[in-house]
Amino acid sequence: MATILVTGGAGYIGSHTVIELVKAGYEPIIFDNFSNAKPAVLARIKQICGRSVPFYAGDIRVYEQLAQVFKNHKIDGVIHFAGLKAVGESVKKPLEYYDVNVNGSRVLLQVMSDFGCKNFIFSSSATVYGEPDAVPLTEDSPVKRANCPYGQTKVDVEYMAQELQIAHPEFSITLLRYFNPVGAHESGLIGEDPRGIPNNLMPYLTQVAVGRLECLSIFGNDYPTPDGTCIRDYIHVVDLAVGHVAALKHCLDNAGVHIYNLGTGNGYSVLDMVKAFSKAIGRELPHKFAPRRAGDVVSCYADPAKAKNELGWVATHTLDDMTRDAYNWQKNNPNGYED
Ligand code: NAD
Ligand code: UFG
Repeated sequence: MATILVTGGAGYIGSHTVIELVKAGYEPIIFDNFSNAKPAVLARIKQICGRSVPFYAGDIRVYEQLAQVFKNHKIDGVIHFAGLKAVGESVKKPLEYYDVNVNGSRVLLQVMSDFGCKNFIFSSSATVYGEPDAVPLTEDSPVKRANCPYGQTKVDVEYMAQELQIAHPEFSITLLRYFNPVGAHESGLIGEDPRGIPNNLMPYLTQVAVGRLECLSIFGNDYPTPDGTCIRDYIHVVDLAVGHVAALKHCLDNAGVHIYNLGTGNGYSVLDMVKAFSKAIGRELPHKFAPRRAGDVVSCYADPAKAKNELGWVATHTLDDMTRDAYNWQKNNPNGYED
């Protein structure tokens, strides 16, 4: 079975994807510099998979560190998760974001090219659609200039990879545009472990639920939506991971550029999420309304039909599954991974 390099494989989405790759019979190799992950995740992956997964410590910006993996193994394809992802931090540190996300991706594509590896799957984001003109978003919806450096790095890498494919048609480039990944593996052994105060809704909810944080602030209740709060397409991280396995099979078999939305097609408001979470924990989760957060789009959800038709993939987990599994992970690991 194919050997797959997983950059950022120690992170939130990467670790879940490594497990699904092993389940599907692939040979993943994790490459990560632990800038936003903890080594403890490797033992958890081993516990879930029943075997260890090869690991290399390294930085995607360092050619030799990546090349070492390609010298030691015949890599059939790369799933590229490694990168920085905090919107607010990217506004403060734009050069760091362009260096890691864009330059790091460039170095990776160079190494792949030099070693004859042509199959590349990239973690893009619904952020490339900016403020949507219409929802649901299809893959043909316009890609816009992003309103933060993080988002722009996703747009830039999408273009860089597509331009490489034009120059070298034997490349197979898959761009996966994730909507809002949430939840955790059902074992409760791996999950999302953000550093500091979470920026994103679901880890904030889980930390309020276990008493690490006092109260959720809902950013804005005067949006033009049914309950006044913003709407997103939350997708269970295991569905997302399974989507990568489906995309990988297609990527390995077909040269070209392939773009897919990975979402459920359902839009839920922030208040819907608070209600669902309160149900999962059996009590009302403390929350209050606060001013709008700069840069938030009003409503963003996917039309996932293309992934269904071409990859045979659909998200199967419900909102209740997402809240249950997110809470289960946080309850079992109130302080995240402890090293
Ligand atoms: P994460 O931070 O948990 O995972 C990223 C991993 O990359 C971490 O383990 C980190 O240590 C590693 N890393 C960072 N810089 C590196 C470098 N220079 N060299 C090697 N490793 C490095 O994030 P995630 O939520 O798992 O996201 C994975 C990918 O998906 C990212 O590219 C992110 O931008 C993208 N994405 C995430 C979301 C989301 O909401 N989580 C949404 C859309 C897209
Ligand atoms: N929210 C709150 N309170 C919080 C956190 C979030 O009300 O404490 C709200 C936000 O205002 C938004 C919704 O919950 O309406 C979802 O917010 P998240 O931060 O969880 O997710 P975003 O949709 O803002 O972020 C996602 C990805 C990013 C990506 C961004 C671009 O997680 O990687 O979309 O739009 F950059």
